Amino acid sequence: MTYSVRMSTQIAPARPGTLAGPDPGSDPGSAAGTDTDTDTDTVGGWVSGSGPGGADDSTMCDVDVIRVPGGARLAGRVHVVGAKNSALKLMAAALLAPGRSVITNVPRITDIAIMAEVLRRLGCQVSFADDEPVPFVDHGTGTTADVLEGAPRSCSVTVEVPEAPGTEADYDLVRRLRASICVLGPLLARRGYVRVAHPGGDAIGSRGLDMHVAGLARMGAEISGEHGFVIASAPNGLRGAAIWLDFPSVGATENLVMAAVLARGVTEIDNAAREPEIVDICAMLSSMGARIEGAGTSTLRIEGVAELHPVRHATVGDRIVAGTWAFGAAMTQGDVTVTGASPAFLEIALDKLVSAGCLVETRTDAFRVQLDRRPSAVDVVTLPFPGFATDLLPMAIALASVSEGPSLVTENIFDGRFMFVNEMARLGADIKTDGHHAVVRGRERLSSAPVRATDIRAGAGLVIAGLCADGVTEVSHVHHVDRGYPDFIADLRTLGVEVERATAPEEPAFTL
Ligand code: EPU
Repeated sequence: MTYSVRMSTQIAPARPGTLAGPDPGSDPGSAAGTDTDTDTDTVGGWVSGSGPGGADDSTMCDVDVIRVPGGARLAGRVHVVGAKNSALKLMAAALLAPGRSVITNVPRITDIAIMAEVLRRLGCQVSFADDEPVPFVDHGTGTTADVLEGAPRSCSVTVEVPEAPGTEADYDLVRRLRASICVLGPLLARRGYVRVAHPGGDAIGSRGLDMHVAGLARMGAEISGEHGFVIASAPNGLRGAAIWLDFPSVGATENLVMAAVLARGVTEIDNAAREPEIVDICAMLSSMGARIEGAGTSTLRIEGVAELHPVRHATVGDRIVAGTWAFGAAMTQGDVTVTGASPAFLEIALDKLVSAGCLVETRTDAFRVQLDRRPSAVDVVTLPFPGFATDLLPMAIALASVSEGPSLVTENIFDGRFMFVNEMARLGADIKTDGHHAVVRGRERLSSAPVRATDIRAGAGLVIAGLCADGVTEVSHVHHVDRGYPDFIADLRTLGVEVERATAPEEPAFTL
């Protein structure tokens, strides 16, 4: 069945049992959401009854809280679908070829709906269809297991790109989805001009664009900033260039690769990001006809071609969601098998869990994490891939908070990642931060309290921390979690934890 997702730039207040998104029959301009955090706002969500996923769309409500019972143990099998941070960029990559591209294994999350709206406003037609549930094939043994019961289904996104897509991405969408900046490269390459709102910083820190801009300038673009927009033009087309990134930025690498595939001549990007999501986008671009060498290494060589053609591409599994369950298993002294994501993309994280005392078994597309005692403290340092992922930092802090002994956790990617430790402190965690280091002294049990999700990963970290508390922890602002974890509640239930989702009580209005 084909779905279309209707979006609004404003959202209706959520009602119990409904979506935060606009009612199919309501005025899309009515009632706005009030969360104004940059990059953490919610737009709509899947429209009730018409969005991919159907029945459990209540998970897209924006004012919800999750009630997490303490003393829980995660046990069972959970399936992970495609990575948000890949699917969003694959949708942008579709802009590089006129015609119909189809991206499968896309997670059913709000951010995808926002990206669809970005593309629609650029003149594309975007529609959604549920993916067929994929049976779990164990490539190690060659056996095919039954389709996982209750496995969250992903969707396929069909993007019909016009001959001449639009050239402007407005602030009202870009502020809600920082990843929309990745239309910069493809649109500049195809249209020779683009105007994209500057997304600004967000809850995990300042997030520069200087490497995106400098790289495009090396390729001959003229770039200026005006009234909150990044404006780039290359009326005579982009040309291949030698580019050195100061830091292996994921977003800059993606934008530059997408610009370079249609540039005249050869572009070489040194110190490029190596994340699996970069490899995924390079794979899609290659099947569209691009010539790219070195995907997954620090040097990318791209020979520009005159045109690309649309394709069908399956999104790589989400290593961060998979890692979240791995840490959850360790923290709760549980036993969790994760399918759908390669353990090769989590090598250091799983190695840390082994050091913490876990038994970790790996297969090609699946792994199992077991622990039957309190975890031992481990030190963690976040680094670009293949280092320990910054998006798993909240899980590492949560684990350290209940481990035996002190852990030193160092964050090297985002300057605001530690903001969420204030919420962990409300759960009784003993954490001291100094610059980009945190010393965490583990406690046997955390103490349940109401806490607030400040971003996607912090929200997930607080939920799994709540599993180790001595009562019911209420995590509010869970729309952040919805942005990165499709069916988080369903997954927790599959793993044996009776979490509840509820509408938060209305905030009192204080007036003078
Ligand atoms: N940076 C600059 N200048 C630039 C580009 C980046 O200073 O031109 C800095 C950033 O400010 C940041 C660091 O470099 O401090 C890393 O930024 P990067 O560009 O690598 O990250 P990103 O592309 O903005 C993506 C993911 C993040 C993930 C990071 C790192 C998406 C949509 N986002 O962000 O995911 O943490 O890579 O792996 O792909 C999340 O999913 O919750 C999330 C935040």
